[in-house]
Amino acid sequence: MIRLENITKSFAGKEGAVAALDGIDLTIAKGEIFGIIGSSGAGKSTLVRLINLLERPTGGEVFVAGERVTDAKGQRLRDLRRTIGMVFQHFNLLSARTVAGNVAYPLELTGQYGKAEIAERVAALLDRVGLSEHAQKYPRQLSGGQKQRVGIARALACEPQVLLCDEATSALDPQTTGAVLDLLRQINRDLGVTIVLITHEMDVIRRACDRVAVLDRGRVVETGVVTDVFLHPRHAATLRLVREAEPDGGSLDAVAASDLAGRAVRLTFTGPSAHKPILGRIARENLIDYAILAGRVGHIRETPYAQFIVSLSGRDVAGAIAGLRASGVDVELQGGAPVPEIEERARHVV
Ligand SMILES: Nc1ncnc2c1ncn2[C@@H]1O[C@H](COP(=O)(O)OP(=O)(O)O)[C@@H](O)[C@H]1O
Ligand SMILES: [Mg+2]
Repeated sequence: MIRLENITKSFAGKEGAVAALDGIDLTIAKGEIFGIIGSSGAGKSTLVRLINLLERPTGGEVFVAGERVTDAKGQRLRDLRRTIGMVFQHFNLLSARTVAGNVAYPLELTGQYGKAEIAERVAALLDRVGLSEHAQKYPRQLSGGQKQRVGIARALACEPQVLLCDEATSALDPQTTGAVLDLLRQINRDLGVTIVLITHEMDVIRRACDRVAVLDRGRVVETGVVTDVFLHPRHAATLRLVREAEPDGGSLDAVAASDLAGRAVRLTFTGPSAHKPILGRIARENLIDYAILAGRVGHIRETPYAQFIVSLSGRDVAGAIAGLRASGVDVELQGGAPVPEIEERARHVV
């Protein structure tokens, strides 16, 4: 749906050009929810402005729906922009217009619809985002979550193929964030619209996205499906972002870096195995003991996961590791020991 090929973008600075984006290659498939995560200054907003065609790259090519759009102009550019809806961090609503008036606005701008048709569309959009009862209110009368629902309805008004959300939940509290992400997922399911979620929060990625790209200082340093990137972060920038989402600052990594080589293993249970008493059974069968050194449990979208670092000791540690793997548990030895069994994952890390 969206393809970026070797994109660079530089800005003139006091000491010469500053590269905000440096060789970005990214493919976002039709119908997926694709996350782009990075800390402040990584280049996320610059990337957004290239995708929504508000800015042109210094180098490289942008494709939308298979079409090269890098130097589209005039009416074609306006048509292309209409295929991409934008949702903003600070909602950007018109304060003098009602909720219905805000959603109607982009439809009025096209000059293509009569009054009755606009009213009908607006009603359907407000119903979709759960705001029918608030149609005649003004933005100042709404909560943050409601304002963002208006922003989403407005972005959908011209039936875009892509919804681009730049920090759309960053101004919202955690509970409202969850509700807005649920709404985006429902819209993705119902309408098949491709969603690009830009965020600095790993929790947003974990709750909503299919795949993710990690942006660090203008480069994509890691891409993959969210379960893989979240549970097995490889690049330092990804580790940092995962750690920020952990309640106690990522003790998993602190242990991984310690000198428990050989017997310390990281166990990852995903899906049904997260709820099964596998570890106790394997310990009994192989006459081993284990100490849990660090851990986290939760969900990645609907998929439950549990991840622990344990140190194994006793009779048959190798047998226990084989048994865990045979039960579908991902086992990684910690502390730099070579682990030839770990398969190369289908993803890309710089
Ligand atoms: N219009 C601009 N002029 C000069 N520098 C810019 C401009 N826009 C962004 N930058 C620089 O590009 C880098 C990436 O910025 P940005 O895309 O806003 O990052 P993010 O959204 O991830 O915080 C930063 O170093 C920023 O200072
Ligand atoms: Mg930004």
